[in-house]
Amino acid sequence: MTGRSAAVVRSALCASLAVVRGEVRFDEPLARYTSMKIGGPADALVVPADEEDLRAVVRAARAARAPILVLGGTNVVVRDGGVAGVVIRLSALKAIRPAGPNRLYAEAGTLFPTLSHAAKDAGLAGLEFACGIPGTVGGAIVMNAGTQDGEIADVLDRVRLMTPQGEIVEIPASKLGFRYRGSHLPPGILLGATVVLKSGRVEAIDARMQEILAYRRRTQPLHLPNAGCIFKNPPHQSAGRLIDDLGLKGHRIGAVQVSERHANFMVNIGGGTAKELAALIRHVGRRVERERAITLELEVRLVGRA
Ligand code: EPU
Repeated sequence: MTGRSAAVVRSALCASLAVVRGEVRFDEPLARYTSMKIGGPADALVVPADEEDLRAVVRAARAARAPILVLGGTNVVVRDGGVAGVVIRLSALKAIRPAGPNRLYAEAGTLFPTLSHAAKDAGLAGLEFACGIPGTVGGAIVMNAGTQDGEIADVLDRVRLMTPQGEIVEIPASKLGFRYRGSHLPPGILLGATVVLKSGRVEAIDARMQEILAYRRRTQPLHLPNAGCIFKNPPHQSAGRLIDDLGLKGHRIGAVQVSERHANFMVNIGGGTAKELAALIRHVGRRVERERAITLELEVRLVGRA
């Protein structure tokens, strides 16, 4: 995008996105679509109607030489300057269907808890851990989302992905380079995933899910906008406990605060900015480094212009 003014990019995008059937909004504030309720505007925000339409968006962005960012909206912090190019939300791609013995296929925009509940209703065990994880299936795969009870890599069979050229490929989970809260996906856009589960009793699955949800409600600040855990847990340690032990619960910069309930959460208490969040992350990271000699690694991703 170097050398081209924002206005030139904008008018190129306007022209090339005209073919899209789904929703297209220019200069759309992203705070509406992030769980932290923070984030400047996208040059263009697009919600493709289906896979075919997504292909049209990918081609349109290429034609306008605009970058693409797929936004799940949880575990990601959009900076205050917003995002250049095309931001895609896959919220219209949310079908779930049976995909063979003990298997379900979910489109990438499906909410992870919705998939967890669908598995329970089908008498399939293995996704109980996901019932309280906010975010989409696509986002969960990119992050290898999970809890102490499991992570998506444990139950993933394969994914479908649209390459930057617009082709659709299937990739087995073993090729996705999963690690703790991370993966190594080839370039492209995730379209959906097949999970392979075990048959189980609906009542037993439901009981476990209720326990998980109750634990979350008790220990996490679900009542305030947040981006999930801010830092990854260092090996054999809990980032939350480390931060808590330093007395940082409740520490606030502007309108962003270390949660009083769980120290690895930062909450937006109303009108917070990405700048404030970044400053709080730096402050907490430095204290832990100085006083515990541990470098905390970020779990959330910061995207966009400062
Ligand atoms: N703890 C404290 N103070 C705190 C927070 C935690 O002392 O402020 C202690 C707890 O009492 C507990 C231990 O630290 O003994 C671990 O806490 P918790 O059970 O809350 O788990 P966690 O390791 O902090 C992980 C995941 C969460 C997931 C929970 C519940 C990571 C980075 N975090 O948190 O995932 O919800 O387990 O299963 O892996 C996320 O990834 O975004 C996320 C929220």
